[in-house]
Amino acid sequence: MATATITLNHYENHHSLTIAPPNSGLSLQGQVQIPGDKSISHRALMLGAIAQGETQIQGLLLGEDPRSTAACFRAMGAEISELNSELVTVKGIGLGQLQEPVNVLDAGNSGTTMRLMLGILASHPDRFFTVTGDASLRSRPMSRVIQPLQQMGAQIWHRSGGLAPLAIRGQALQPIHYHSPVASAQVKSCILLAGLMAAGETTVTEPALSRDHSERMLRAFGATVKVDPETWSATVMGQAQLQGQTVIVPGDISSAAFWMVAAAIVPGSELLIQNVGINPTRTGVLEALSQMEADVTLENQRIVTGEPVADVRVRHSFLKACAIAGDLIPRLIDEIPILAVAAVFAQGTTVIRDAAELRVKESDRLSVMATQLSRMGAKITELPDGLEITGGTPLVGAEVDSYTDHRIAMSLAIAALTATGTTTIQRAEAAAISYPDFTATLQRVVS
Ligand code: S3P
Repeated sequence: MATATITLNHYENHHSLTIAPPNSGLSLQGQVQIPGDKSISHRALMLGAIAQGETQIQGLLLGEDPRSTAACFRAMGAEISELNSELVTVKGIGLGQLQEPVNVLDAGNSGTTMRLMLGILASHPDRFFTVTGDASLRSRPMSRVIQPLQQMGAQIWHRSGGLAPLAIRGQALQPIHYHSPVASAQVKSCILLAGLMAAGETTVTEPALSRDHSERMLRAFGATVKVDPETWSATVMGQAQLQGQTVIVPGDISSAAFWMVAAAIVPGSELLIQNVGINPTRTGVLEALSQMEADVTLENQRIVTGEPVADVRVRHSFLKACAIAGDLIPRLIDEIPILAVAAVFAQGTTVIRDAAELRVKESDRLSVMATQLSRMGAKITELPDGLEITGGTPLVGAEVDSYTDHRIAMSLAIAALTATGTTTIQRAEAAAISYPDFTATLQRVVS
């Protein structure tokens, strides 16, 4: 069978990934075990730390982002065992009991760590915290959580433009009903977590429904949470008692998406992606691929500690262009870079709108995907709030860059499988943020 040459090159401060597909005959075959869900991993560590008693986490994502969360909560007194994907135990210290850390908390590259943790820190009266992150995170907007927290009575200092590093002096917070201008699970979760300590009901209403892992897990840990699916509102009852739980983390659909698109666009491919979380607030990618007439089937559907899970089988097929916009966007927000790669192989013009949020992710994903896929010969135009991609132009190998963004690095690697000639992806180590075994899995499924 023809196979690609896939090589990681190590330099002093970064890695590059070189992908040289054969002239013909490459396909992807076999079964793929994807890493644990990033969103659920963060939440299990955080709720475990602030609950009473022990939390056991199976299938935790061992990426850099959950490591940042674990390091922050250890620095505030939570006992978290060594991280592994088998079993992590967290000895919770109880709601409102986090200790003042003796140093700056470092959220690394992780927006979820910084934004969710802020809600917890702001509600710890009389304790002082400072929080920073890497260059990417220090350029991302924090006002979206600072402002509602200030409405609840929080004291937070920040750099101009609402940027980190941040300083927080915890306060007894007031409950609010917050109408968020953005559909963001990080904003919603931050406020609900702050509301855990407030006296009364704290509600967040969103302009479209974002992922609901916090609502599900807060309930599982014993908080009273109400959701109104008509108005996209979630309410938490304050002064809750959280009790440690067992959390089985499903595989991350956002990581599975790379394999779904890879199998869909490379002729002759068939992959079975096992143990994929299919929470309806995350399955926009399945809907977009189905609109594109991809051959995707769900097998062995089941519920695992409150989250729906399935195995996903994907076979190659000829894709059609589609339109992605509106309420669908928050349900596939992290999959837009890899869906842009799928669109390069679809007949017709795919238009993605209402996705301006992509400009404030780990990189400006609209601009970076447009420039990097253009370098490979794709017909892709950046729109103010999206992308327009006309499929059917064959890709050619090129020198491209992840801009230190994990999802860009992996999307470009999948695009490279279909190109004529060699592609080198600079700063490919970024993949380890959410998928440390990505390159090893890629080498395995193409051989
Ligand atoms: C996440 C929410 C999303 C997503 C991010 C993880 C979460 O961000 O892009 O990767 O775990 O809550 P926003 O809330 O900013 O949309």
